[in-house]
Amino acid sequence: MSVATAVPREVRAWWDANPMTYGPVHGGSHGAVPGSEAFFREADRAFLRQARFASGGGVLLGDLVDYARWAGRDVLEVGCGIGAVAQRFVEAGARLTAVDLTATAVAQTCRRLLGTGRRARVYQADAERLPFATGRFDAVFSWGVLHHTPGIARAVAEVHRVLRPGGEAMVMLYHRHSLRFWLDKWLWEGVVHGENRFLDRDALTSRYSDGWEEAGNPHTRTFSRREARRLFEAFEAVRVEVCGNLQVSYRRYLPGLWRLVPEWLERYWATRVGWFLWVRARKGGVPS
Ligand SMILES: C[S@@+](CC[C@H](N)C(=O)[O-])C[C@H]1O[C@@H](n2cnc3c(N)ncnc32)[C@H](O)[C@@H]1O
Repeated sequence: MSVATAVPREVRAWWDANPMTYGPVHGGSHGAVPGSEAFFREADRAFLRQARFASGGGVLLGDLVDYARWAGRDVLEVGCGIGAVAQRFVEAGARLTAVDLTATAVAQTCRRLLGTGRRARVYQADAERLPFATGRFDAVFSWGVLHHTPGIARAVAEVHRVLRPGGEAMVMLYHRHSLRFWLDKWLWEGVVHGENRFLDRDALTSRYSDGWEEAGNPHTRTFSRREARRLFEAFEAVRVEVCGNLQVSYRRYLPGLWRLVPEWLERYWATRVGWFLWVRARKGGVPS
């Protein structure tokens, strides 16, 4: 199927070749066959592990998203990947629409949602060119997606456009002032391995995270809180918080000692220098 996108062909090809799995390319480690039951189980486990400090009681991102609040309302997920969060919204009774750039993600999300026995719409579409009418949704959720799209300002403008007045955006972007960026990417890859001579910050992040495209279109960026706020300046009530886990390769820096970092300390650090920036923002105007 051919989809109108604003994203460069090479970037799209990268996602086609590396669809979301929570396997090694995306910071996980499982090797289950994509689409199998074991795959969803392992991928969900890896997702939950990455987001454990925002997932109290084992509810994926449950500390950030009050799923019950969206029951009976129109929610759009942008960049649904393997459909893990889409499933939570659907099970909570939201009228969910999900989009992703790749056919693989759409197929996997459909497969997963079929199992819920509830209705949802899943389309292949580009965040920078959403195929929906203005003011169509009560909420737009997007986790770990918009920092990958080259025209992120255009994508955020699209999120604003498709929201109803008073509608809410819930978006996770990668955080630059995080241990993961400064230790794992800048210090380890950039300084110790000399990559800072060849790669700027975005290229460094892309090369050593999910998003390196050999033809020269690195497409993973990180944001400071201030940059994230600026990105959402068309919205009202913008709140940006740091969360997630640290996702640092402790073994490199604390051989043998990394196990001594207590969970409470990691949890505390995660709210300061964690890898996720969680943005909540409201579209202005009076809900009808
Ligand atoms: C890192 S994965 C995150 C997936 C999912 N949100 C999760 O957390 O498991 C990024 C996803 O965004 C999708 N994506 C990247 N650029 C996109 C764009 N411009 N429009 C829609 N989806 C995009 C990719 O295909 C991929 O499935």
